[in-house]
Amino acid sequence: MEKQLKTISFTIIENGTRIPVVTRHGRYPNLMFLLKDELQLESFGECGGVGRCATCVIKTKGITGNSAIKDRNEPNTLAQLGFDEDNIRLSCQIYITADLNAAEISLMEV
Ligand code: FES
Repeated sequence: MEKQLKTISFTIIENGTRIPVVTRHGRYPNLMFLLKDELQLESFGECGGVGRCATCVIKTKGITGNSAIKDRNEPNTLAQLGFDEDNIRLSCQIYITADLNAAEISLMEV
């Protein structure tokens, strides 16, 4: 029997355009790399995902589970920019898991 890979589906919103994404666990190290690749973004994720540069800020809706919790450098980096809302996140600190199914991810200008 063929092994089935579970897909993960969510929506990216860029400048009001809704872009459906279907991916799978392990294809990207984290959400920042997926966004950079899918949207071919320059100057996005400049620190490579360590949570220090804040060039990967996004607004989220519908993320569930452990992925909804800010951890490691994320709270401090966002606080330095004045963001304390739960739905403003560093995309490099979010792994591609089933927690993203049906979520909406909006790019932000920082
Ligand atoms: S890539 Fe630098 S904070 Fe996310």
